[in-house]
Amino acid sequence: MIRKFTFGTPVTTDAVVLSLPAETEPVPFFSVSRSGEQVTLTRKMADEDCLFGLGESVRGINKRGNLYRSWNSDIFNHTESVDSLYASHNFLVFFGPDCLFGIYLDDPGRITWDLGFTRMDTAVITSENGQLDLYLLEESSLTELARAFRRLTGRSYLPPRWAFGYIQSRWGYAGEDEFRAVVEEHRKRGIPLDAVCLDIDYMEDYKNFTWRKDTFPPLDQFTGSMRQEHIRLIPIIDAGILCQEGYPPYDSGKAGNCFCKKEDGSDFTAAVWPGFCVFPDLLREEVRRWFGDLYRPLLEAGVEGFWNDMNEPALFYTPERLEEAFRRAEEIRGSGDYESLWFLKDAFNSLPNNPEDYRSFYQEADGRLMRHDKVHNLYGASMTRAAAEAFRRIVPEKRVLLFSRSSFVGAHRNGGIWTGDNFSWWSHLKLVLQMLPNLNLCGFLFSGCDLGGFGCNTTEDLLARFLQIGVFTPLMRNHSALHTRDQEIFRFSAWEQMKETLRVRYALLPFLYSEFMKAALSDGMYFRPLAFDYPEDRRAVHTEDQLMLGEGCMIAPVLEQNASGRFVYLPEDMLLIRFRSPEDYDLVPLEKGDHYIDLSLREFPLFVKRNHPVLLCPGGEYTEALDDHTFTALYWADRTFSFDLYRDDGQDPDPGLDSHLTRLSLSPDASAGPGSGVAISPLVL
Ligand code: NOJ
Repeated sequence: MIRKFTFGTPVTTDAVVLSLPAETEPVPFFSVSRSGEQVTLTRKMADEDCLFGLGESVRGINKRGNLYRSWNSDIFNHTESVDSLYASHNFLVFFGPDCLFGIYLDDPGRITWDLGFTRMDTAVITSENGQLDLYLLEESSLTELARAFRRLTGRSYLPPRWAFGYIQSRWGYAGEDEFRAVVEEHRKRGIPLDAVCLDIDYMEDYKNFTWRKDTFPPLDQFTGSMRQEHIRLIPIIDAGILCQEGYPPYDSGKAGNCFCKKEDGSDFTAAVWPGFCVFPDLLREEVRRWFGDLYRPLLEAGVEGFWNDMNEPALFYTPERLEEAFRRAEEIRGSGDYESLWFLKDAFNSLPNNPEDYRSFYQEADGRLMRHDKVHNLYGASMTRAAAEAFRRIVPEKRVLLFSRSSFVGAHRNGGIWTGDNFSWWSHLKLVLQMLPNLNLCGFLFSGCDLGGFGCNTTEDLLARFLQIGVFTPLMRNHSALHTRDQEIFRFSAWEQMKETLRVRYALLPFLYSEFMKAALSDGMYFRPLAFDYPEDRRAVHTEDQLMLGEGCMIAPVLEQNASGRFVYLPEDMLLIRFRSPEDYDLVPLEKGDHYIDLSLREFPLFVKRNHPVLLCPGGEYTEALDDHTFTALYWADRTFSFDLYRDDGQDPDPGLDSHLTRLSLSPDASAGPGSGVAISPLVL
């Protein structure tokens, strides 16, 4: 059951696809209070209550005990004390012995989620706008709640199948030679690879929709020659458009009156990579159409995937604030007052993404002029929407890869996301593991982090462990920042071990793709907290470092440096597959309970429920080379069981579920494995 309560006159966000009548208060489960423009929802929580949701945010799978803020931010340091990241996913589920419901706040402004931070027994949720649709979802299980939320907000984005291949990326690859060298090195050593990302260095002076000519051949030639190597190019697109007469996107946008305005009617400008930029008012349909059409030449030149960046939107500084900082500096100069040094630092440190700047320009929403901060959290989602709408117009016959940094609910229908600028820290292995199930709950199934870590220097063992998580994340991309240590697999002495990890990904790829597509097409979750499958099992409910994957699997990666194994809790009997390569693995049937699993640096585990298979294909160095007719099925069975494998052409935008399922029947007798119903069974479909 989904109920809607409306406060004030909310703007249309495009998050919700279901039209429901608004009910009148009282709102069940909460007490509601108002102060000025704000609306606050308060609820007492029982000791056992857990909170799931809020998608991209720091800390645990269970969000209880911290304060979070919905305020999309360009933030480079994802520590525990950060309250906002790049996205706002305002769906939260309350789950406890006496409660099971979800709330979604369809509100694109700033929201504070005090989830037991001020008082451990109280959740206090405050909308600053106070103009919102509040949805209350009640179902009989966590899984059904997730499904209901997708009914409310629409089906998750489907990427092309090749996007499940390994992607190599780095900020700083500045020309064709470097890309060729990276691709060649992968191919020479047999390291699987499907795509490379082009960061801002491919542009002329970092200008969107331009193509640097001094170090690159014409784009269509480059895409063509790379396709011969079975490599796709994925260029980055930023939100800001450089203010420069004679630069076509600026001229056409200016002529169409497409940019966000200040109060005096002039274009709002702020510095980003190329210099002072203007920002398309992407809430307007005609502006989305104009912006989306800018992707056309790239698509026509053979580009099949994009990543949208800096779309919170990130603002390095506005001319006004920079002027003010210089004025402060002049004042302080020569004062000899050491304390004023702090003011000096402050004046410059507060330049980027300053809240005042977000209050200084306007966007048009539902025909009304709105101050940007009131609709701030929609910016990235509307950029994703502009691109996706254009792809549907320009290449309606196929799926285009798209992942964005900033997002809002609703963007999950149009693209995937990556989790932004993580660091090469061990703690960020755990962070992504904890984010993934909450992203799935909010509809973002196609996601992943920068494997190896984006900021600072990675280490060989950290990259190896990141890749072992990446084997299971739909988006599997190695990306790193300018000036950090080279992070491609082949740079490390243990590259052969990492190559085997990637080979496992490719052997599992048809199976993982199938699990992903079944989840997406049935409004399910690819990754889930254990609580979703074992709501009665207290241990499972509070497990923070293991995830359910697809219908019958569980992952429990190693998350600590120098660990040679880890404890794993099994909520039921499961088969451990300890991978070293697609050909070299142990199959160990384990009983429900606690186990210590030895996992040297080259080993990683996958756990599978009984009477459920994992399918390995013969593998290949790129997705098109994968054979999805010949498999080895690994399972632990005590009866004959069936399993549905999803296979399609990997690019139909609306492929449907049932017509692409092949039903497999598997039995314990097929057992060529180590006895007791553990089978390694060849399959030809
Ligand atoms: C910020 C993005 O998060 C990062 O991935 C990218 O490399 C840089 N911008 C440069 O474009």
